[in-house]
Amino acid sequence: MEKPSRRDLLLASGALGAVGALGAGAPAQALWTWSPQGSVVGAGAGADPRTVWDDEADPLVASLIDRGAVPQVNKLLREWTKNGQALPAGLPADLRVFIEKARALPSWADQAKLATAFKFNEKRGLYLGVLYGFASGMISTVIPKEARAVYYSQGGADMKDRISKTAKLGYDIGTRNAFAPDGEMIVTCVKTRLVHAAVRHLLPKSPHWDKVADEPVPISQLDMMVTWHSLPTTVMRQLKSWRVPIPAAEADAFLHSWQLTAYMLGIKEEYIPNSWTAAESQAKQSLDTVLAPTPEGIKLADILLDLGAQLDGTVLSRSVLTAFTRFLLGDEIAGWLKLPRTPVFTGILETAWMPFIAVREGLLPFPLAPAAYWTLDEFIRKFVLLYVSEAKEISIEIPLTNNPN
Ligand code: HEM
Repeated sequence: MEKPSRRDLLLASGALGAVGALGAGAPAQALWTWSPQGSVVGAGAGADPRTVWDDEADPLVASLIDRGAVPQVNKLLREWTKNGQALPAGLPADLRVFIEKARALPSWADQAKLATAFKFNEKRGLYLGVLYGFASGMISTVIPKEARAVYYSQGGADMKDRISKTAKLGYDIGTRNAFAPDGEMIVTCVKTRLVHAAVRHLLPKSPHWDKVADEPVPISQLDMMVTWHSLPTTVMRQLKSWRVPIPAAEADAFLHSWQLTAYMLGIKEEYIPNSWTAAESQAKQSLDTVLAPTPEGIKLADILLDLGAQLDGTVLSRSVLTAFTRFLLGDEIAGWLKLPRTPVFTGILETAWMPFIAVREGLLPFPLAPAAYWTLDEFIRKFVLLYVSEAKEISIEIPLTNNPN
């Protein structure tokens, strides 16, 4: 008889809730007490989201993989790029039915808020690009479940490609027509939902992942909300700490665009927070309590810093990227990621960043601008340009394998 894997044992013992029991060094996640009353629909069964995955996409994609349909599906779906575009002929009928349902916006989608969200994205595009890329990207390396899933899945073997694909989502959400028929965000989300379903089917077969995972199937609803908080919640926290003035309507609209993103990614409405207050209360319980180093996260952070340096050997040198990461995430996380100290760049950021933001925001007269103003401005412009240019022509495809390493 085949030896049962750790995952089988976890499943058999019903130890799903005992998160942290096997994740070496990872903090245990507290019981789920967040109320669905704080969600976009104000109600729900309140099931622990660690025990919920995607009951529509998962069996479908598992079946597509098992019946050998994925290469043809990927080829056909390359043609599907616009939200309102008819699906390509020749897709399997069950997939077509799924996508037609999954691409529909929920009743609570608010076009006026989406228009304001675009205004906000346009005004704050540079900060958002830097924060998605740096704060969110680097935090993902200290979210143990995400780090392990990313490292041991197919994308872990080619991080440059993976980052471009993820950057596409960050790019699409900021466009004027993101969720409109001629936009691309719905397509990106629905394809990502299919990719996540594939990962749930494939990753449990990885002996590397199986050895370290503390859940039977990756990317639960809770995992998705944790990662979600690493994006808009982290960005909003950071903008506030930089004292960037944000009118309430814009903050609300930015949240709305991310609520819709969560929905289109297959996150159940009862877990999607209905306000920033609700989001903060959920993030405190879900994101803030799980951050921890893992060997996989440390390797991913190292790869990410190298990739930045490869993109541009000058302004985006590894030392600058390292200093910026430490500056954004703090000494504790930088220590977890074994980032060396870079006193010169850290010193520049510590003294010049806040005045730099104040000048950009018109809160400090230009003559008082720090000498480092243009260097910092060039840095963020260059970073965002590279990040976005990588993202534009990307096609997100259903994987068929894990990372062999
Ligand atoms: C793939 C975004 C949550 C693990 C992707 C892709 C995007 C994305 C855009 C497609 C890129 C690609 O194919 O490489 C998001 C967003 C999330 C989220 C916006 C939450 C709001 C998660 C979570 C995990 C995860 C919670 C794991 C715990 C993965 C993996 C892949 C993937 C392993 C596939 C990599 C591959 O093998 O190619 N995600 N994701 N994601 N995501 Fe997520």
